[in-house]
Parts: sequence; structure tokens; C-alpha cells
Amino acid sequence: MASSAATQQPHRSGRISMPRTSRISGFRDLSVEARRAAVAETADIAPESLAVLDPDQGLRVDLADRLVENVVGVMGLPVGIATNFVVNGRELLVPMATEEASVVAAASNAARIARVHGGFFTSTTAPVMQAQVQIVDVTDPEAARLRLLEHRDELVALADSQDPLLRELGGGVRDLTVRVVPSRAGTYVVAHLHVDVRDAMGANAVNTMAEAVADRAGEIAGGRTLLRILTNKADLRLARARAVFAADALGGAAVVDDIVHGAALAEADPYRAATHNKGIMNGISAVVLATGNDTRAVEAGAHSHAISPSGHYTSLSRFEKNADGDLVGTLELPMAVGLVGGATKAHPVAKAALSVLGVASAAELAEVVTAVGLAQNLAAVRALATEGIQRGHMSLHARNVATTAGATPEELPAVVARLVADKAVRVDHAERVLSELRANS
Ligand code: MEV
Repeated sequence: MASSAATQQPHRSGRISMPRTSRISGFRDLSVEARRAAVAETADIAPESLAVLDPDQGLRVDLADRLVENVVGVMGLPVGIATNFVVNGRELLVPMATEEASVVAAASNAARIARVHGGFFTSTTAPVMQAQVQIVDVTDPEAARLRLLEHRDELVALADSQDPLLRELGGGVRDLTVRVVPSRAGTYVVAHLHVDVRDAMGANAVNTMAEAVADRAGEIAGGRTLLRILTNKADLRLARARAVFAADALGGAAVVDDIVHGAALAEADPYRAATHNKGIMNGISAVVLATGNDTRAVEAGAHSHAISPSGHYTSLSRFEKNADGDLVGTLELPMAVGLVGGATKAHPVAKAALSVLGVASAAELAEVVTAVGLAQNLAAVRALATEGIQRGHMSLHARNVATTAGATPEELPAVVARLVADKAVRVDHAERVLSELRANS
């Protein structure tokens, strides 16, 4: 499934394309301009559409001034492209916005290993978000819960009437559930609207609905409504990714076993789980940010999901050895991302990032994000289970240092190799190595 069907797709412009692959050899050694051209070619988009990746053509101050308050400027972040991704048979280049070195390279590396067994296989639930309506001062909370459920159809219709467009698009309110939540300040009746938000992140839609039904819900429950807001514990909007990482490509059977040990520690120990999950979020947040989505919403959803049935904080992913001795990684978590609304449409770089991905729905975006999270996680745990992460960091750091010292793309590999071998990743040493190299060439 992975390559032939995926790489022989019709061009988005209608022509039959040459086989396209996200495995672009030597990508990292190209100039920024040449990388952009390769991305445009692979993603089948106009090269000019990536011009917004230049800081002076991206988010202008006047536009920023309309996005948030008290604007005094904009802040740049590197946008890198993760290569090698195949998701459900589709070759994908993935834009990632991050300030952290190694993240893009590590994701690309793990995606290359996953390609051997067809890349990432993903799925999602329907894009159902929930809004909560808190009702206080209810004398008979259990009976109020049932009264609200008896009025389910009325409340659903009231909420649905807030967003006729969403219903036209096939979305809308799917259900009403009600919980009784004891707390230190009293017992609350909490109504949940379950709303299929289609390609939106959904916060605006569900918040509007929650506010619209609040008075009536309070009346039915016999209490006073207080908070009316979505929950970021979006556990009805899950995305999943699975990949097989060949033992050979990982470094052998012992590495598979050690990755399983590393992942098992994260399952069992909240201290390790927090760092393990942070590694997953290195990938997830970078794609979420690059596509103009709400990183905090996704992060809140992820961490709220990382609670085991016994109630302790645990890892979001699992790693197992399959019958062939290869490593299987799986990741499942809430993924509230959208393609419409907010910065996804307003931010020029987010629009460019989405066009590079070429995803057709929020669900497809959620799946790609989750695949990147799994790739990032595998790369981190593999590094930790083998040579440690500092060595990889060192060569990337050495590239930066060598570039600062004035090395050309052609000179980079030799200078980097020397800096790492000499264990002296410093600009003064890079300058010395460069002069030697140039004197001998
Ligand atoms: C660093 O940003 C992320 C890692 O700490 C993740 C992990 O420990 O799994 C390397």
C-alpha cells in the first residue's frame, strides 16, 4: 500500500504526476531556497506559495495586531520539514515549528525507519467535542440529572439551532449526557453537550451552544448555571497511530528489548512518563503550531488522557515486540485540531503549512499530527536506550557552529565530523578546521 499507489496519484492540478516521495535524499544539505523548491515540487504546490516562510513576508505586524491585543511585534520560530513520512500510504512532508534542535531530524529519522513496514497507519473517532454546563445549588442532583436527560431532545435542538451551517456540513449536536460531580464546595450537576464539529477545532461552536442552553438547563435542574465552556479533555475526539519499526533498522534485537524496557518504565513511573510524553509533544506541538492550531488545547487534552485506569499518570504510547521480533509502537490521544477558523486561516505561514500537508479534513490533520508524535517518541526512546541523546544533539549543534564559522554547505560534513571527533564544538575551533580544510583543498 505504501509506495506504488501513493506515489502515482494524479497531480492535484489534474495531471498525472511523476512518482513523488517524501524521502528526499540530501534534503538537509540543500540551501533553504532549494529545500523550499523541493517541498513545493513534492507537495505539488506553487513555489511562490512558500514565500510567506520568509520573516518579512509572513505574519505582518498589521495582521498580528488584528489577531491579539496590545501588539508590539511578532516572534519568529524556525519551521523545518520532516521528511520520510508515509501515513496510510500517502507520502507526506510535514512542517514543524519548533525552537528545539534535533526534533525535526529525529522525526524524519524515525519516519524513515517506519517506511520499511509501510509507514504509519492511523485512524480517528468522529470529531466530537464536548461543552460543559455547571449547575450549582441543586437540592436534588440525582433527580436533576434525570430531569435533564428527559429533556435531552429539547436541549439538543436548542443547541443545534445555534449553528445551522455546522448542521449543513453534517455536524451538530450528537448527544447530551449529565454527570453529578461532588466537590469540596458542593455537589454540581454538569451537563455535557457532545458536538460533531467537523473540520473546526470547535471551541467557538461548542461554547456558543453551552451558553445558549445554560438558562434552560438551570431551570430544568432547579439550580443556577455557572461555567459554560468546552472541555479540553477531548476524549471523544481521539486520533491513533501505529507503526512497525524493523529490528534491523533500529540496531538489532537487543535495541528492541531495551526500547520496550524504556517504554515500560514510562508506563509504570509518572516521573519518566512526564518526560516520555514531553518527547511525544515535541513532535505534536510543532505540527500543531505550524498549522496555526491551539497547542495548549492539544497539550491539555494529551496530559488529561495520560491517566491509567488505576488513576496514575502514565505514558500515552505503548511499545511492544511483535512475532517477527520487530518493534510496534502505538499512540492514541485526544486531538482537537481544525482546518477552519482561528490562525489556521489567518496566519499566512499556517496556510502554507497546511498546503504542504495537503490534508483534506481535520481528521486527516489529526492523524498526521499523531503519527509525528509517535515518530518523535520512538526516536527519543531509541536514542535514550542506545547512545543517549547528547551525541545526536552534538552533531546538530556542530552544524550550527560550523555554519556560524562560515562553512559552506559543501564544507559542512567535513567540519562537523572534525568538531564532533575532536569533542570541541566551538566556533573558534570550527574556524581553525575551516582554514586547514581550505589550505589543503
Ligand atoms: C527532549 O526534548 C525530549 C526527551 O527528553 C524525550 C524523552 O526523554 O523521551 C528526549
